[in-house]
Amino acid sequence: MMVLRRTIEPAMHRLRPLPQPVANSAPIATADWRPRTWRAFPATQLPNWPDAQALEDVLAEVRCLPPLVTSWEILALKQQLAQAQAGERFLLQGGDCAESFADCTSAVISNRLKVLLQMSLVLVHGLREPVVRVGRFAGQYAKPRSADLETRDGVSLPSYRGDIVNAPEFDLAARTPDPRRLVKAHARSAMTINFVRALIDGGFADLHHPEYWNLDWVGHSPLSEEYRRMVEAVADAVRFTETLSGEPLHNLSRAEFYTSHEALLLPYEEAQTRQVPRQHGWFNLSTHFPWIGMRTATLGGAHVEYLRGVRNPIGIKIGADAKPETLLRLLDVLDPGNEPGRISLIHRFGAARIGALLPPLIAAVRGEGRRVLWVCDPMHGNTESTSNGYKTRPFTAIRSELEQAMELHAAHGSHLGGVHLELTGENVTECTGGARELTESDLERAYRSTVDPRLNYEQSLELAMLIVRKRGELLRER
Ligand code: PEP
Ligand code: CO
Repeated sequence: MMVLRRTIEPAMHRLRPLPQPVANSAPIATADWRPRTWRAFPATQLPNWPDAQALEDVLAEVRCLPPLVTSWEILALKQQLAQAQAGERFLLQGGDCAESFADCTSAVISNRLKVLLQMSLVLVHGLREPVVRVGRFAGQYAKPRSADLETRDGVSLPSYRGDIVNAPEFDLAARTPDPRRLVKAHARSAMTINFVRALIDGGFADLHHPEYWNLDWVGHSPLSEEYRRMVEAVADAVRFTETLSGEPLHNLSRAEFYTSHEALLLPYEEAQTRQVPRQHGWFNLSTHFPWIGMRTATLGGAHVEYLRGVRNPIGIKIGADAKPETLLRLLDVLDPGNEPGRISLIHRFGAARIGALLPPLIAAVRGEGRRVLWVCDPMHGNTESTSNGYKTRPFTAIRSELEQAMELHAAHGSHLGGVHLELTGENVTECTGGARELTESDLERAYRSTVDPRLNYEQSLELAMLIVRKRGELLRER
């Protein structure tokens, strides 16, 4: 979300011009588009609600609830993503695979914010570029599943599709999709965003006080010494600049944070899609940055139809099945004006396949002069099951995919401008490896995810440090 700087007088906040539409942008919504036109297209990954009328009643309620974000925050983010496309910023997007209603707590929210702030400090310091911070939070409640039903011991029940749809427990009542959950998800999202805004407005992200965002166990981490040196270097630079100018650097007291989630549950997204005064077109006001998942990024499908009409920046997940020609046609539909900041391509191939799959896509996108932000999701292509029955991701594979992504973009005249991660500020053991060398037998100690395995605090920080090191290496090789 956009956070206003303290250096601007309160009266000037109101006078500050809203971001202007980016030059060359073609109007996105065409005359034949409305928030509900997706309903005429084939929709996958939507639950079967038992009572259609109950769903419509809930949607009428969600339609009247206040939005979670504003159009000018969305347009400000789009401008920052345009700068990232131009190589002037780096995108850090991270958070849970799936938020849960139960984890809408003070500790979980602030710990996740702390990790993202620490990672962004490492990135800003090492890359010498501003970082665009985007959380997978305040709305990441819907999950795609490979099958509609899950069978255990001969009993089949609807799959768990995220807390906005049903509950993970394996019984009929929990698994039956309940439309009232849409209202609860909206409320939990509002509570989350409210707390994040309050923390940041209250000085939590102040660069003069990075100790505010230390997690309890930072002191015991094998990485703590390197991190501490970095914080000290930043503090020195701040003191030096303040001494030189004779004034405190006020704009270091705030950080901007934006929200994102997968735009999967279309009835919910539709109900939060609005027109606003003095802007043309439609905005999804449930999040700044919706993305379209790998399983629903299909030409002719309902999810693409919905997203083509909103003016938000959008992310597209690209998996191993993506063909260059299909990707180009998808871009024609989702970004007819080749608008700066509109499209982020989030690739997730897996460490073993990225080398073969990424270069043809880079060539196709470059060949048509498409403006996109390339982002690496090194999580979803590297999931595997252990012999003791856990879904995990080896840190070595995550690291390898990310490093290969940076190398491949550099080698093919492109640029990796961001990273998309599943992480938590909790001390979980869900991914193996990392500085503490977690093994398969460590997983049972603190495995809490109901969906995909997340990087814990230390592994996240280590990855930020690796990005910096790799960028340095690539620059030296040039
Ligand atoms: C996710 O980001 O949690 C997800 C389901 O990703 P993908 O669509 O890339 O599989
Ligand atoms: Co996931």
